[in-house]
Amino acid sequence: MLTGKNILLIISGGIAAYKVLEVIRRLRDQGASIRAILTQGGAEFVTPLSVAALTENKVYQDIFSLTDEAEMGHIRLSREADLVLVAPASADILAKMAAGMANDLATTALLATNKPVLVAPTMNVEMWNNPATRANIATLESRGILRIGPAGGDLACGETGTGRLAEPAEIIAAVQDFFARQDGPKPLVGKKAVVTSGPTHEPIDPVRYIANRSSGKQGHAIAAELARAGADVTLVSGPVNLPDPVGVNVVRVETARDMLASVQAHMPADIAIFAAAVADWRIKDQAGQKIKKAGDGALPVLQFAENPDILATISQSGPLRPALVVGFAAETENVVDHARAKRARKGCDWILANNVAPDSGTFGGEDNEIHLIAGNDVQSDELWPKQSKIAVARTLVSRIARHFDT
Ligand code: C5P
Repeated sequence: MLTGKNILLIISGGIAAYKVLEVIRRLRDQGASIRAILTQGGAEFVTPLSVAALTENKVYQDIFSLTDEAEMGHIRLSREADLVLVAPASADILAKMAAGMANDLATTALLATNKPVLVAPTMNVEMWNNPATRANIATLESRGILRIGPAGGDLACGETGTGRLAEPAEIIAAVQDFFARQDGPKPLVGKKAVVTSGPTHEPIDPVRYIANRSSGKQGHAIAAELARAGADVTLVSGPVNLPDPVGVNVVRVETARDMLASVQAHMPADIAIFAAAVADWRIKDQAGQKIKKAGDGALPVLQFAENPDILATISQSGPLRPALVVGFAAETENVVDHARAKRARKGCDWILANNVAPDSGTFGGEDNEIHLIAGNDVQSDELWPKQSKIAVARTLVSRIARHFDT
């Protein structure tokens, strides 16, 4: 499955480094070629000889080695790989990557590479939870660095928690998944998609606003999956705390009206998916200055105005209407009936409906049980099993690919 793939493996320091020997063996079994860089810390846990024997290649350790540089310079080393795998990735090497440091061969190769990087972190639970590590991981992920693990469980230091290196089988699966996605079919090449995501913020005055608790996870996952399937994706997002999905054109907006204007500016499109939790109302007359407390205890009265319905507007936009318009519906009862009525009212093609009743466990959870309502006839309803928001995005995108294929 990995025949012809070149992997640059960077082994940094960690008690779990011994597991990487198994990773090398399995990657080679699948046909991958591996060149390895061993950091000074890594060499305390595995020997260069064992890594060389298993990779059947020279192990690179020293940036100032004239012989190494003459044989294969560090730039070439980092460029000739199809994937750079850092396993185990210590807190230290992750921090150096986040900061862009290059003070040894491993970090120099990581800074010089123009290839995708997958890290398999391992460290003590408190080190993992430390705000510095959290910030480093967020930085690396926002730059598109891929990650597998760490897992929870008993740690080598005697403590328990998140910090265990992913198992060799999981690391291999992550490598396979990467290549499957990179080399896999791209059924939506040539299709233009617009996705909305996140909440909107509706200002009351220059410092206050009305918002909702939408995280944007579902919309962002859909945008990322569409891009992986080869579509040209614009993500119009309200304020969220998420990294921009790789390979997606992200437009940041605040209000419902800005979101609609941005969506319209990106028409025509083939596919439009409206996953944003758009505020139904805005404040009618936004105060130009901060509203002050009245001395006499009188309370301000806010008047609302209705926001545009982006899904309905685009669904009914005539010649500019995308071929496939998809909306969401969160219902607490009669999910299918209500969603079907919503589909007809808004004029979209599909509605993804989920049950958000308090006993459904959907609210605030990671999982979603979805009904796809694609028409008024009963046969066109599909029930997708309970799955993560990322899995929902994958199912939706493969359903879209099937739709355009037939
Ligand atoms: O009417 P309701 O808010 O339940 O509809 C939900 C669907 O409509 C979602 O797909 C949401 O993104 C979209 N919507 C919209 N603009 C609005 C309100 C909802 O695009 N103003």
